[in-house]
Amino acid sequence: MSALALKNVTYRYKNSPKAAVSGISCLFEEGKVYSITGPSGSGKSTFLSLLAGMDLPTEGEILLDGENIAGLDLDRYRRESISMIFQAFHLFPLLTVMENVCFPMELCGVNPKDARKRAEALLEGVGIAKEKRDRFPSKLSGGERQRVAIARSLASNAKIILADEPTGNLDYANTQNIIEILCDLAHSKGYCVIIVTHDSEVAEAADVAFRMRDGVLQTEWREKKNG
Ligand SMILES: Nc1ncnc2c1ncn2[C@@H]1O[C@H](COP(=O)(O)OP(=O)(O)OP(=O)(O)O)[C@@H](O)[C@H]1O
Ligand SMILES: [Mg+2]
Repeated sequence: MSALALKNVTYRYKNSPKAAVSGISCLFEEGKVYSITGPSGSGKSTFLSLLAGMDLPTEGEILLDGENIAGLDLDRYRRESISMIFQAFHLFPLLTVMENVCFPMELCGVNPKDARKRAEALLEGVGIAKEKRDRFPSKLSGGERQRVAIARSLASNAKIILADEPTGNLDYANTQNIIEILCDLAHSKGYCVIIVTHDSEVAEAADVAFRMRDGVLQTEWREKKNG
């Protein structure tokens, strides 16, 4: 099943003669992990922000289940269809772990009791022990913080996860753990996971590896593990 289909997507920043993203056509499907690597300035973050609906392509179309996102309510698209994970975790420092995960649900009108129940299940799923759930993020390790951020990103039911350097601040063991969690979300729970990364371990774990060069997305390989 397809999640996002791109048709000839180009993006130019205002006053910039050169396209940051240039003529990209590709398919992102549910149940798969995609990696995007490439040199600094090649357009990776710009591309991710287009997928996230932060801005619309200058040319071309991004289709969500066949519908051009330009015609959708973009606030709603950002809230309900995609979720984001960042290198710096972006947890709310003054909210506890539990409150961080509950927050997006409460914003969407879920009652606090149901939000708490779901947050408990999500935190359980990423291996955050019960006694750590009432701590502030500053009292967690980097790997734990990223797992909380993943739990929070899952709170919304969005099936597309966009991650910009999610392991950029983590050591080897924590990187492996985050890779496992993201792969499991795709392979067992049907999420579409798109990861921008400099980390070759992360890229190797993907089902499809892309490389960005001068705004152009090239396929490095597909389904390597299945031959
Ligand atoms: N707000 C902006 N206005 C104008 N040009 C921009 C803006 N943001 C980025 N660019 C340019 O667009 C191109 C792509 O930038 P982008 O941030 O997408 O690269 P990147 O691949 O994410 O790089 P990095 O690996 O360093 O994060 C670069 O040439 C950059 O200078
Ligand atoms: Mg970037």
